[in-house]
This record gives sequence, C-alpha cells and structure tokens, in this order.
Amino acid sequence: MKTQLFPAEHLKEAAALIKRGGLVVFPTETVYGLGASAFNPVACARIFSAKGRPSDNPLIVHVATEAQLADVVAELPAQAQALKQAFWPGPLSLIVPKNAALPDIVTAGLPTVAVRWPGCVQAQTFLQECGVPVAAPSANVSGAPSPTTFEMAKSAMLGRVEGILAGDDCEEGLESTIVGFFEGRARILRPGSITADQIAHVLGCQPGDLGYVAPEGRPLSPGLKYTHYKPAAEVRLFRSASELGSLDVEGHKVGVMLVGPDPVPSADWAVLRFDGWKAFGHGLYASFFELDRVGCTLILAQLPDAQGFGSAIANRLSKAAGVQPPI
Ligand code: TXA
Ligand code: MG
Repeated sequence: MKTQLFPAEHLKEAAALIKRGGLVVFPTETVYGLGASAFNPVACARIFSAKGRPSDNPLIVHVATEAQLADVVAELPAQAQALKQAFWPGPLSLIVPKNAALPDIVTAGLPTVAVRWPGCVQAQTFLQECGVPVAAPSANVSGAPSPTTFEMAKSAMLGRVEGILAGDDCEEGLESTIVGFFEGRARILRPGSITADQIAHVLGCQPGDLGYVAPEGRPLSPGLKYTHYKPAAEVRLFRSASELGSLDVEGHKVGVMLVGPDPVPSADWAVLRFDGWKAFGHGLYASFFELDRVGCTLILAQLPDAQGFGSAIANRLSKAAGVQPPI
C-alpha cells in the first residue's frame, strides 16, 4: 500500500483521509496513534490487521469535543467526571460504559470503552478536523515499542496505512495512564505520566487503593496479558551503574541507558545518558529505536523505583525485558 506522508501543515488532508475510511498515523503528546474513524467498523478492523493486533484487545477512542465524547460514552461515572475535570485534555484514558452506537469491534465486544481527550494541540486540531471520534492504538506493530517520533512512526507503519501525519517528537514519550472503575473503585490499569498520587488526590483516596489486582488471574485490561514494548535487541535491567561491571555481556554489541554521570565499564558500549527520570521516560522508546538502529544486540536499561512516574517507566521496561513489573 502507498502511504502518503503529510507535513504538519497538511493536517486537513490527513483528516479527510480518516473521513474517507482510511488509516492515518498521527502524533499525540504520549505516542503516535494509528487512527481510524471509530464509527467505521471496516476501517477499525483494518487497524487490527495493520498492527497484527489480537482482536480481543480493544482500542482507545480519541475525542476533542464534548459532542464527540457524548457519541462514544453512555455516561461518565462521578469519579470519571472528576478525573476528566482534573486531567483532560491530557495523557489519561478512562474506561467507562460505552455508547451503544459505538461499533463493538472498537471495544472488542466489551461493554466499556477507553476514551481519551489528548492534550497535544496538533492532535486536538486533527480530531476536530476529522469530525468523528478516532479509534487509535499506539502506532507500533503489536509487541514492539510505541513510536514517539515521526521517523519511528514511518519505520513502523510505512506501507501499512494510507497516511502518516508529521509532528513534533511526543512530549511525554510513554502511553497514557489508564484508569478503570470496578465495583465503584478506581484502578490504574496502566501507569503513565499522571501518577497514582495525582489521581488519589483528586478522588480523595489513598494511592495504594488504586492498585490493580487481576481477579482470578483474568486481566482487567485485555492488553495487559500481551508481551509489549520489545525492541529487536534483548533488554536487561539494572538498578545501579555499579552492577554493570559484573554482567555477562559476552558476544553482544551493548547499548546502555542510564540516568546521571556514572561511568560504564567499556568504551565500546553505546551510551545514552539522561538528565533525570522524566527525560528517561520521554526518550525510552526513541532510545530503543536508536540502539536497534546502530545494531546493538543487548540493551542494558536502568530501572527506577516504582514510585510516581517511575512506575510507568518500570512497567514498560519490565515488559520489554520480559520480567514481572515491580509492584
Ligand atoms: O497514550 C496512549 O494511550 C496511546 C495514544 C495513541 O493515545 N494509545 C495507546 O493505545 O497506548 P494501545 O491500544 O496501545 O493501548 C490501549 C490499552 C490496551 O492495553 C487495551 O487492552 C486497553 O487500553 N483497553 C482499551 N479498551 C479497554 C477497555 N474497555 N477495558 C480495559 N482495557 C481497555
Ligand atoms: Mg500499545
């Protein structure tokens, strides 16, 4: 398939493609999304094939007007309303009862829908131009890291979609925080840059109350059971640079991602240093992309404490490394 590349100023043409039933990759403040009209079930079905995504893994619907929101949801429970007031537009997805008119393929048959009003102005303008809510998972092939730059979006989706809209590098760099409501209690299903402390503050509960526990091993969010965020290179985690010297890296071309100035044991390693965890989170997927590009076969990535924004980074790194995320 021929993929049209749209410079940012050609946003209207990209939106017109969505209206015509096309798939268009577009930037948001979290990661690039792979969008289709949420009310076009044929186009939504093509999202799943373009990504190689299992059909039981529902999509997030993006809105940028109250009317679009009303088309997607049946109602916003009081807690969802409070979080909307506090964090939208922004990097938060809410799982709420779906509008009966929304095609079932979007929610993989679930009675609930994940909905988000993105903070990025370009995404909002795009959604308003589309004139319909836009279903959009992250624009990666299923299992791979999410694209956070136009380069990465092209590399992942060229030939798989009708259009890719260029934009700035994503400001957050990690996917939205997802909050669901189960038996009247809010739960964080996926940590992101909006933290448990911030959400608890708004809801008047303790951050610890927001923890997610799978009932009888069944994930509350279908996506949680799949492997995610893996670059081509193997990923191994470390906590402190002092551990690096004792790791067995025999036979590997090594890349390392760390926070701060600590030395690394070999001058042959490709080293990506970050100024703090915010910068690390922002650059996480782009670093995976870069280290894959230069041919690293092993990426050593520093693991933060699973506190605040560190939980989001620890969650993605653990999945990339194929280990259990820290609680
Ligand atoms: O930042 C983001 O959220 C990005 C940008 C493009 O908005 N999107 C994104 O979508 O990360 P995706 O599809 O990669 O992740 C959506 C997650 C999946 O784990 C899915 O299982 C979960 O949301 N999800 C969607 N609808 C759900 C529902 N009704 N109930 C529970 N989980 C749901
Ligand atoms: Mg994703």
